[in-house]
Amino acid sequence: MTGLTGKRIILGITGGIAAYKTAEWIRALRHEEAEVQVVQTEAAARFITPLTLAALSGRRVYGDIFSPEDAELIPHINLARHCDLLLIAPATANTIAKLAHGEADNLLTATALATRAPVLICPAMNSNMYLHPATQANLASLREYGCLIAPPAAGAMACGAEGPGRLPEWRKVREYIIAALTPQDLQGINILISAGPTYEDIDPVRFIGNRSSGKMGYALAGAARQRGAEVTLISGPSALPDPPAVTTVRVRSAREMAKFVQQKAPQARIIIKAAAVADYTPSAPSPHKIKKGAASLELKLTANEDILKSLGELKGEKPFPLLVGFAAESRDHLVQGLKKLKAKNLDLIVINDIGGSQSAFANDSNQVVIVNRQGKKTELPRLGKEETAHRILDQLLPLLPGP
Ligand SMILES: Cc1cc2nc3c(=O)[nH]c(=O)nc-3n(C[C@H](O)[C@H](O)[C@H](O)COP(=O)(O)O)c2cc1C
Repeated sequence: MTGLTGKRIILGITGGIAAYKTAEWIRALRHEEAEVQVVQTEAAARFITPLTLAALSGRRVYGDIFSPEDAELIPHINLARHCDLLLIAPATANTIAKLAHGEADNLLTATALATRAPVLICPAMNSNMYLHPATQANLASLREYGCLIAPPAAGAMACGAEGPGRLPEWRKVREYIIAALTPQDLQGINILISAGPTYEDIDPVRFIGNRSSGKMGYALAGAARQRGAEVTLISGPSALPDPPAVTTVRVRSAREMAKFVQQKAPQARIIIKAAAVADYTPSAPSPHKIKKGAASLELKLTANEDILKSLGELKGEKPFPLLVGFAAESRDHLVQGLKKLKAKNLDLIVINDIGGSQSAFANDSNQVVIVNRQGKKTELPRLGKEETAHRILDQLLPLLPGP
């Protein structure tokens, strides 16, 4: 289950060259169990056939506002009423102009005017068309009317021009869609999240690392952003791409992690430490590669600063920032987690049992227990990390001051 499961999405395709890309989006949406109803403009049907779109969406494609089929239902009103989101992609300069002026001369523009669901527009066109003051003014009007605009990507376009105007990649659009469907209950709240492992250098080629992939922390950053938070992510080495619209700082060692977390902490209302920070670091890393030959080698380690403990001490009796820690334990996970909650002055602890075969590390799903300061325990089922992230954020909501 994800934020798209069971959502009814109208995909309004207009006559832009990028129309073909939305065929893949239909598959991605359906993969997450969203219902996709395609509405095409006449121009769009010249770029991608209704046959392809019907086959991919598993539904007939709507186009003609005056079609006698279903006329008794008044298609634009019926469509407008039965959707959770109207996604217009690619949105041509022409359709954007029509929408900005409240025109309703085809099924898509009429549906856009009639719906009370959020409208998300993905402009895609040649950069001169996009940057033209008329298009910019039209987009500004649409923002004022409450439409959400996913800004186009920059780069080389089909027409040979370079600049802003490309249809954004699916990963980014998905974030906008989920944000549009998600209550903005963390609107404007500054959240600092740490994620991933740290690497402690032994010499220029070797290091001590751990099995954390960063997936849980990145999922939290993405979920908080979807709910309107201003998110800073401090990430140890991770192969994951920066989450869209999140300020991401990449670090390597525990020392660097501590430095950036402490730098950003004073602005944060919520701090979530999901990183797997090394407890120890080599006392004297070698500036040169250590050669083999010796029968044995001893590595002396020094304890790193306990970042979470320092933050807990700094917080003292103050209600904010809310402090959330993670405990990855291979035995007595609940007892160990509760000890950590108290010792580090946390508001919430997320406890992972890493003992079983379904380890949380590098996995796309996990099963956690959340415990708050009052000892209230919430056991979650095994869920995707994005869903787990939302459930963790749900637990923080009652701890924030009301509107
Ligand atoms: C080959 C070709 C590619 C086009 N690509 C775009 C485009 O990417 N973006 C755009 O705004 N218009 C593009 N147009 C122009 C639109 O198709 C035209 O403005 C049309 O009237 C849009 O109709 P609609 O908004 O009802 O779909 C293209 C036209 C042609 C012939």
